[in-house]
Amino acid sequence: MDLVDALPKAELHVHLEGTLEPEQMMYLAQRNNVLDQIPYDSVEEVRKAYDFKDLQSFLDLYYAGCAVLLEQQDFYDLTWAYLERAHAEGVVHVEPFFDPQTHTQRNVPFGTAVKGVHAALKDAEAKWGMTSGIIICFLRHLGPEAALECLEEALLFKDMIMGVGLDSTEIGWPNKLFTEAFTRAKAEGFRLVAHAGEEGPAENVHQALALGVQRVDHGIHSLEDPDLLKQLAERRMPLTLCPLSNLKLKVYDGELQERMQELFGLGNLCITVNSDDPAYFGGYMSLQLTTEL
Ligand code: HPA
Ligand code: ZN
Repeated sequence: MDLVDALPKAELHVHLEGTLEPEQMMYLAQRNNVLDQIPYDSVEEVRKAYDFKDLQSFLDLYYAGCAVLLEQQDFYDLTWAYLERAHAEGVVHVEPFFDPQTHTQRNVPFGTAVKGVHAALKDAEAKWGMTSGIIICFLRHLGPEAALECLEEALLFKDMIMGVGLDSTEIGWPNKLFTEAFTRAKAEGFRLVAHAGEEGPAENVHQALALGVQRVDHGIHSLEDPDLLKQLAERRMPLTLCPLSNLKLKVYDGELQERMQELFGLGNLCITVNSDDPAYFGGYMSLQLTTEL
């Protein structure tokens, strides 16, 4: 094991659906007899399709791949496969996201997904002492009413869920649309986070702060707004950066290295490095820390 793997790490920004490796996608498609519901015939075809031009072109494939997740055991197996990799790379604490609406929309019950994920996390705690807390994310592109409905369902499984977040399409779906869902989630005692400033503007990071978040996921576009940077520093507001994700989704295309250096160079921000959707972007935690952008 090399030094980077050996360092104990916390993973604070990983989407479990984004850890679905092509081999596991094909395996689950066969197991569930739904090969006809994914747009691929082989592992090679899946890998070939992973060439993204922006966030939306990635999300389209990411949601399509989820068609193979149907049973509680599938969610367990997905989570467990991720946890084994994370453990091998020195992750000792994880706060994974999953998107309940991606599954309930396909008539997979909320409980099927959350119970599978939760059981795997508990097994990782028993086996390795790995600590964790589930964060469910509302899908921005389904709008604020659907987020409230998702929150209602989450209340039935409150003991398994630590926090709520916001993800999916950023442009056209500003975070302020979700004020009511976040106010309610806070009143119910959930921790709050939100994706913001990934490919959207610094203004969306301001809107995430106004929702009462305790972390900003990505937040790289905060660079556009010196006052915002000052505020983030003063509040010690964590940014969960995902360098490989930004590289693959062409965020600050051609100048990502410089932008990252600028952000780290400020020296006063609370920055964490994370893997986002490692099966799609080609790297788990250790690679995030060692890849040249
Ligand atoms: N951004 C927004 N939504 C997502 C992402 C992301 O990087 N990954 C999975 N859902
Ligand atoms: Zn993300």
